[in-house]
Amino acid sequence: MPDWLKRPVLNRRQLMLAGAGAVGVTVMVQKPGDKSGPRESYFLDMQAALMRAGIATPTLVIDRDRLNRNIDTLKAHLPADMGYRIVAKSLPSLPLIAHIRDRAETDRLMTFNQPMLSALSRDMPDADQLLGKPLPVAAAKSYFDQLPADRAEAAGNVQWLIDTPHRLEQYRQLARATGNTLRINLELDVGLHRGGFVPGSDLQQVLQALAETPELSFSGFMGYEPHLPVLPSAMGWRERAKQAAWRAYRDCLGQASDLFGAAEVAQMTRNAAGSPTYRYYQDTLLANEISAGSCLVKPTHFDSELLEPHLPASFIATPVIKSLDRTQLPGMEFAEGAQRAWNPNSTKTVFIYGGHWLADPVDPPGLSYNSTFGRSSNQEMLNGGPELEISPDEFVFFRPHQSEAVFLQFGDIAVYEQGEIVARWPVFEASA
Ligand SMILES: Cc1ncc(COP(=O)(O)O)c(C=O)c1O
Repeated sequence: MPDWLKRPVLNRRQLMLAGAGAVGVTVMVQKPGDKSGPRESYFLDMQAALMRAGIATPTLVIDRDRLNRNIDTLKAHLPADMGYRIVAKSLPSLPLIAHIRDRAETDRLMTFNQPMLSALSRDMPDADQLLGKPLPVAAAKSYFDQLPADRAEAAGNVQWLIDTPHRLEQYRQLARATGNTLRINLELDVGLHRGGFVPGSDLQQVLQALAETPELSFSGFMGYEPHLPVLPSAMGWRERAKQAAWRAYRDCLGQASDLFGAAEVAQMTRNAAGSPTYRYYQDTLLANEISAGSCLVKPTHFDSELLEPHLPASFIATPVIKSLDRTQLPGMEFAEGAQRAWNPNSTKTVFIYGGHWLADPVDPPGLSYNSTFGRSSNQEMLNGGPELEISPDEFVFFRPHQSEAVFLQFGDIAVYEQGEIVARWPVFEASA
């Protein structure tokens, strides 16, 4: 999801500040209160487990018990007969995906790049893989070139995503060249405006082509709408956008039904949603499957009202290298007292192993980055208040903002369950 989609268009504070500015009101900056305090037992237990496991480098930890609860929560929210498709890029580890497949009882995956598609075809040839973005046809060709002969069945389980008549023609040629029948899923623009078909003539053209081309088989539609929850709900704005999205989807289904028959289209893949929107789908009249990934590990960008029942299940744990009782900034030593008097949260300092991740510190409480000192990937400075108590070799915990890129930065995931690190799960190679 692009970053701007993580935020409301205008939040309440921005609106209030804009309002205050307009009438010439001076906004007083509030003196920060002390946010330091005792550590959470949850993180102290996780720290003890990491130490017992001999882990002493920055590590991505997944709490498997919380992951399981999130899977169960998601499944419990789905209406009867709604399929669940695992968003592989947001859960980028084969054993992690295998675990979720097993617990959620699904064989549907959504895949976003060719190396991941190839890896999943090798490891899970039986899984149905729907591309979450259209791949350049040359990448699709590489997929066929690299597919081992004993995994040939996997190619038949891929739904290639197509967004334009031109790309459909490219894939038709690929189908001819490789001698494979390709399953084609059509990307719909239901208001996100990231490309795809809207009801009308281009859609008609590709539907017609699909009906007439034996080497292409029409497998369904994908319409993604993560823009909806970030629109303001005031004056029915969000609801109108949702109704417009569903109308567009319905009209596309109608066009397809005219050509292929309503009964056949009803059986096809009718994919929608992502973590922030999956709970919008309370029946299977429009979509018959939802895709979601991030809500199972819940990075901070997914702290939304609808995802309230999901628990944060992924953390970055990193050892403290140095723990100092004061905060001195280079060349600004004279300002130390004034800085501390203004902001008690800048009283103490830790330097951690690594840093500069897309993540927020969560334990010990009250830690923050120092914008004057700056960020560091080597030894990042964090500051805390007078109650901060942490020694070198103990762990600071962060919550990632997102999973898809952050999970790939730490090597094998440490799987935490019942107070111990019980497994290590390799992640996909970082690739696009
Ligand atoms: C097409 C599509 N569907 C669904 C998702 C949802 O993924 P997640 O649940 O991890 O947000 C994404 C995320 O980018 C996407 O691009």
